[in-house]
Amino acid sequence: MKLFDVYSLFDVTPAKSKGCRIWDDKGQEYLDLYGGHAVISVGHCHPRYVQALKDQLDRIGFYSNSVRNPLQEELAARLGKACGYPDYSLFLDNSGAESNENAIKMASFHTGKDRIIAFRKSFHGRTSGAVAATDNPAIVSPFNANHKVTFCDLNDAAAVEQALRGGDVAGVIIEGIQGCGGINVPDENFMKHLRSLCDTYGAVLILDEVQSGYGRTGRFFAHQWYGIKADIITMGKGIANGFPCGGILLSPAFNPVKGRLGTTFGGNYLAMAGALAVLDIIEDEKLVENALEVGEYLKASIPASPLIKEVRGKGLMLGIEFNCPVADIRRKLLFEKHIFTGVAGSNMIRLLAPLVLTKEDTDTFVKALKEVL
Ligand SMILES: Cc1ncc(COP(=O)(O)O)c(C=O)c1O
Repeated sequence: MKLFDVYSLFDVTPAKSKGCRIWDDKGQEYLDLYGGHAVISVGHCHPRYVQALKDQLDRIGFYSNSVRNPLQEELAARLGKACGYPDYSLFLDNSGAESNENAIKMASFHTGKDRIIAFRKSFHGRTSGAVAATDNPAIVSPFNANHKVTFCDLNDAAAVEQALRGGDVAGVIIEGIQGCGGINVPDENFMKHLRSLCDTYGAVLILDEVQSGYGRTGRFFAHQWYGIKADIITMGKGIANGFPCGGILLSPAFNPVKGRLGTTFGGNYLAMAGALAVLDIIEDEKLVENALEVGEYLKASIPASPLIKEVRGKGLMLGIEFNCPVADIRRKLLFEKHIFTGVAGSNMIRLLAPLVLTKEDTDTFVKALKEVL
């Protein structure tokens, strides 16, 4: 049997990792400014994280959600305090797409309505409702396309209000900062307006913080930069530093009904051990603060160049937009300078480094970038 060929692969085989470094199977060292696509929050193979998972595996690795799991309760209490939503409830699942799927479903149950407003250049995942709310027709099958979704331009409050006037909107889903669509930071005033429009029309405001959350932008959630609260917040990626885990936070307005949400693997012991270790490390090593400080330093160090159009983003969620395709620059960074970077569209290098990145690491990247340009 061969693999179903859906990924374009770089010819690199990571074999070992530590902090912001990866070594391939030939012993070549790389600097990781991609974080495995925003997943590595507390750094590769952080000793406390590794120990927590090993210890948990020795105790109990899995049982179902039909019994009490104190680790889930501990995570809910700790996360509520850490992110500033202590009165919300936590539902645990396994991935970003699943979190968005559950959020959309809850908005629809709650309001009894069946339309979602989403934004152009959005990405919310590849499952049924999440991909329907994703602005990329190439990955939406005819089956997915039957969902009722209205797309508006980011920052266009008038278009959102017009859609809400139809009276059938269950919720509005928006990324804290658009990631795959090109590191687009929504205007603060627009986000405040969106919050009040959702209140006026009784729609649920869903903040997709799968990529922009968990400290990456220098706030626990990116939407906290705009001074608003969401009704549902969706999470994934960095929550357990690579052990598959996702979750949604629901405001007290949502009443749980037995059986409406559920999952076999969500909230399992290993994911919880990983997620609790991540919170410990984020707090003890002040990684949200580090993401902001090092991210701002990095942003300010990107050299001026006729090839570079704009540098956008917050903290360690940064996009360098070029006036030309970046495939060649990225390839040189990887194979000549041994630095992993991400991409958004054809012209943007997207940086999603582990939150433990240091200023020295960013100097290494900036020097390499200058040499490659
Ligand atoms: C903003 C956002 N939402 C949802 C997802 C989907 O997450 P997953 O791949 O874990 O399903 C992603 C993944 O890149 C994302 O960036």
